Amino acid sequence: MIIWKMLPLLIVVLSLSSCMSQSDPVTVVEEKSEISLPAPHFKGDVSVEEAIKNRRSMRDFRDTSLSLEHVSQLLWAGQGITEGFKRAAPSAGATYPLTLFVVVGGSGVEELNAGIYQYIPESHELLLVREGDYRERLAAACLSQLFIREAPISIVVVALYEKTTARYGERGIRYVHMEAGHAGENIYLQAEGLNLGTVVVGAFVDAEVQSVLGLPEELIPLYVMPVGFPR
Ligand SMILES: Cc1cc2nc3c(=O)[nH]c(=O)nc-3n(C[C@H](O)[C@H](O)[C@H](O)COP(=O)(O)O)c2cc1C
Repeated sequence: MIIWKMLPLLIVVLSLSSCMSQSDPVTVVEEKSEISLPAPHFKGDVSVEEAIKNRRSMRDFRDTSLSLEHVSQLLWAGQGITEGFKRAAPSAGATYPLTLFVVVGGSGVEELNAGIYQYIPESHELLLVREGDYRERLAAACLSQLFIREAPISIVVVALYEKTTARYGERGIRYVHMEAGHAGENIYLQAEGLNLGTVVVGAFVDAEVQSVLGLPEELIPLYVMPVGFPR
C-alpha cells in the first residue's frame, strides 16, 4: 500500500528524462501535493433508471468549468470507497487493479490548476502528478480525437494487471478489462446524473498516453473519458 501511494513520486522520477527531452511548457512536480476532495453525495436529482435511459456518448463539450464537487462525484462513482475497503465498481477478488487519473485543462475545474492528478480512493484525495495543460497531447495520443482537447477534464482509467493476474493468472487479464467497463459505466451514469456528458475512448496509442501521464510501462491505460457540459 505504501509503495502504491508513492506511485506519483515514482512516476515523476521515471518520467523526468522523457519529459525533459520534449520541449513543452509543462512543469514536472517534484514534491507530491495532495488536494482533498469534497465528500461525495449519495442522493441526486436523476434516478438510476433515468440515467440509464438517457445516457448517450457525448463528444461536443461546452467551454464551461466543472466544479471540484463534479470531479469528486465522478471519481467516487468510478473508484470511490463505498464500504470498508470496497469500491463503487466490482472487482474480481477485490484485487482493485484500476487507478484513475484526471487530466485537467486550463480553467477546466474551478479550484484546480491545469495538470494531471491521480485519484487516491482511500483518502478521497487528488495527488498532483504534473502541472500544465496536457489536453492537446492527450487528444493527439488518442488518434487526434479532437473533442478530448475541448473537454474541461478527461478521466483516464489505468490498470496494473499484476494485481489481478497474481491471483487469477491469464484469466485475470479479462477480469481487468471487465472491471474497466464497470468503472466506465459508473462514470457515464454519474455524469448523466450531474447533467454532464462523457464518452469512453478506447482508440489511442498506449505508449503515447503513458508518455503524457508519465506512467511506467506496467501501468496500462484502458479508457480515456473526456467529461464536460454538453453543448
Ligand atoms: C470499448 C469501447 C471503445 C470505444 N472507443 C471510442 C473511441 O475511441 N472514440 C469514440 O468517439 N467513441 C468510442 N466509443 C463509444 C462508442 O462509439 C459508443 O458507445 C457507441 O457509438 C454507442 O453509442 P452510445 O454510447 O451513445 O450508446 C467506445 C465504446 C466502447 C465500448
